[in-house]
Amino acid sequence: MTQAARALLREGDGAGAERLLTAALADRPADACADPEVLHLLGIAAHTQGRPGEAVRWLESAIAAGPDEVAAASLHNDLGNVLLETGAHDRAVAAYEASLALDPDDGPTWTNLATALRLGHDETGAGRAALRAIELDRSSEPAWHAFSLVLQTLASLGRAEDAADLTRRWLAIDPGNPVALHRLAALGEAAVPARASDGYVVTVFDGAATSFDTHIAALGYRAPQLVAAELGRRLGPPNGGLVVADIGCGTGLSGAALRPYAVRLVGCDLSLGMLRQAQLRGCYDALDKAELVRFLQTQHAAYDVVACVDTLCYVGDLGDFTRAVAGALRPGGLLVATVERAAADSGWRLTGSGRYAHSADHVDKACAGAGLVDLTHTEVVLREEGGEPVVGLVWSARRTTMKQ
Ligand SMILES: C[S@@+](CC[C@H](N)C(=O)[O-])C[C@H]1O[C@@H](n2cnc3c(N)ncnc32)[C@H](O)[C@@H]1O
Repeated sequence: MTQAARALLREGDGAGAERLLTAALADRPADACADPEVLHLLGIAAHTQGRPGEAVRWLESAIAAGPDEVAAASLHNDLGNVLLETGAHDRAVAAYEASLALDPDDGPTWTNLATALRLGHDETGAGRAALRAIELDRSSEPAWHAFSLVLQTLASLGRAEDAADLTRRWLAIDPGNPVALHRLAALGEAAVPARASDGYVVTVFDGAATSFDTHIAALGYRAPQLVAAELGRRLGPPNGGLVVADIGCGTGLSGAALRPYAVRLVGCDLSLGMLRQAQLRGCYDALDKAELVRFLQTQHAAYDVVACVDTLCYVGDLGDFTRAVAGALRPGGLLVATVERAAADSGWRLTGSGRYAHSADHVDKACAGAGLVDLTHTEVVLREEGGEPVVGLVWSARRTTMKQ
């Protein structure tokens, strides 16, 4: 009978399962205890029909009916899930803890506990629970998601020390993880690298590739349009006659904006996931999986235009980049790029967001050092983040037509 009820629940027929289970409960001998499995399934049936209060009562009766350890662990976990849905975070935490006391190596329950603790505003406990889930299963997406939500919450609360503590714990179970190392530097707890490591860029953007366009559109992303407008200002209306490189092309949002200028458009990026999306967009003549400076260093005087849109926020000192661009541009060729603007008057810095920001002065010096001339920059809003504008610079400079 319980098998038939389970089958009905799988088919989405909660009412049918409930009829079967209620009849079985009524038919049992007067002196017989209720079967914990029947009570458990009645709880699930009530839950699937939108009656969480009743579901909680059935699940609690099932626990009281003395199931074996395995069933009890599952019951406490299910009880936690229903309680979490009703907003009873503290009771959900207690239910998950009871489940874990019986089955301490169940990763999904640790992830559930992390969610309940975070919603109950115990971010530190939530982070540790999520890390335990990650330790038990490195490939668990829900566990990583729960952990990243905790880090986001800590960031929004300005609790850098707690975030750093969790990040160090993360490194203890996953030594050398490039994202953890980068975050620790962004939190001011490790030396700041000259640019985001290849491992960081690949991990972050491979993970974000399929959702990138939707995510960034929701932030009012407009850097590609701003770069296209800068090209229009410098070169006039597009005539489809230029050889153009899109450096850090991502999914190709920038390529789509550059295409009207290009007779040949080449994209380069470190993330294969992003390049696959760019390929699907169909606006590039060639795509290259390469680190951007290394790529530019192989492209001697090849381009009329080099564009770098919302990518230098993963590079600190711009000196190597501008020198490599100068080598890749034809004489008179144009570099157009965006940076996030640093609050300071000079230099560059790695911000708490994990992205680099640059001063106009640093851009000026990097261009001058590479022999790029005729530099202009304009302050713009690149997108929003947390409801606040992300202020940046759109800048462009030319390779001199004279021999250097
Ligand atoms: C925020 S996305 C912007 C993509 C695209 N330009 C746009 O406007 O939508 C930044 C891209 O730069 C790439 N990237 C970051 N650092 C890089 C590096 N050092 N070399 C090559 N690609 C890099 C990332 O993989 C990512 O696809």
